[in-house]
Amino acid sequence: MSVVAVAPSNIALVKYWGKRDAARQWPANDSLSMTLTAARTETRAMIVDSGHDEFVFGGQRLAREAKEAARVMRHLDLLRRETGASAHLRIETQNTFPSAAGIASSASGFAALTLAGTAALLGAPDMAQLEGRGFTRARLASIARLGSGSACRSLFGGYVLWEAGPAPERQDVRPILAPEAFPLADLIVVLQAEAKRVSSSEAHRHAWTSPLFGPRLAGLPERLKRIETALAAGDFERLGIEIEHEALEMHAVIMTAEPPVRYLETATVELCAWLREERARGSFEAYFTIDAGPNVHVLCRPEDAATVTAKIQARFGAAVRSILQDQIGEGVSLASHPLEDLPS
Ligand code: DP6
Repeated sequence: MSVVAVAPSNIALVKYWGKRDAARQWPANDSLSMTLTAARTETRAMIVDSGHDEFVFGGQRLAREAKEAARVMRHLDLLRRETGASAHLRIETQNTFPSAAGIASSASGFAALTLAGTAALLGAPDMAQLEGRGFTRARLASIARLGSGSACRSLFGGYVLWEAGPAPERQDVRPILAPEAFPLADLIVVLQAEAKRVSSSEAHRHAWTSPLFGPRLAGLPERLKRIETALAAGDFERLGIEIEHEALEMHAVIMTAEPPVRYLETATVELCAWLREERARGSFEAYFTIDAGPNVHVLCRPEDAATVTAKIQARFGAAVRSILQDQIGEGVSLASHPLEDLPS
């Protein structure tokens, strides 16, 4: 049997930045994200009898020593420990978004890997059977988190809260609002496609050295409450202003850490400033957020997505590599196929 898991990426509205305990992936703060639809990872897992794991990414078989493969192999060891199974797996994975788009794929990647790998090792081909074997979405989320923190939020759809909790083993991830309750589009404006010089895992470690990090942590519970209130009330303006402050605050921490890192490019800052000006002029209602990279996520109502996309293209033309039109959606899904159905 081969199983195929599909996991969407997610965009954080309240960012996970800084860890209290890196080994146990215990974050410094609660975070809140919106699960996406179009940007996703599809991962096929099947048991092999070659005696070792195999990893194929985007049609290319990766050497076990390759950096990306090593992280995947470690996660497969973890899945074997969690399931008590000893088999080896062939993992074939691909992203629906161009891998050169500079969009983090670790969230969707580790969510899909956890789901497909666990299902294959247990021979449990759907969510109900996985749950019957004790692997609820919450448990799968906590395993995915050990691969990459933000992956735990991709197990669920809509708006998802990851609570740090009072101890590493008491973290909680759960959906707080369904996609249809507050539908939003995410226009991912790709300004730079090259891999970043400093990975987010690396930069996370230095968060505590920024003089702004303590004040940030002190203010975050209130911000999270304001964002949850705005979501519940359907108040896009309140939500949007909060998420812009949040993204800029995370980047202020990153830029004032030791060593300082700057992910924001000139075009990033220009796009954000222009968006605010256009909004003030009443051209459209859209707000930005930015992850640990130079690309800008522009959030707007789905019915405004085409207009906002066209205006960004018209104003920034050459500086924009591409705009991926995405929107809020459901979490992971799982399907199984008999091996003979596999394309050769
Ligand atoms: C800026 O989840 O990539 O996207 O746990 O080290 O793999 P690791 O970090 P990662 O960090 C994501 C940081 C962020 C904000 C967020 O998604 O919450």
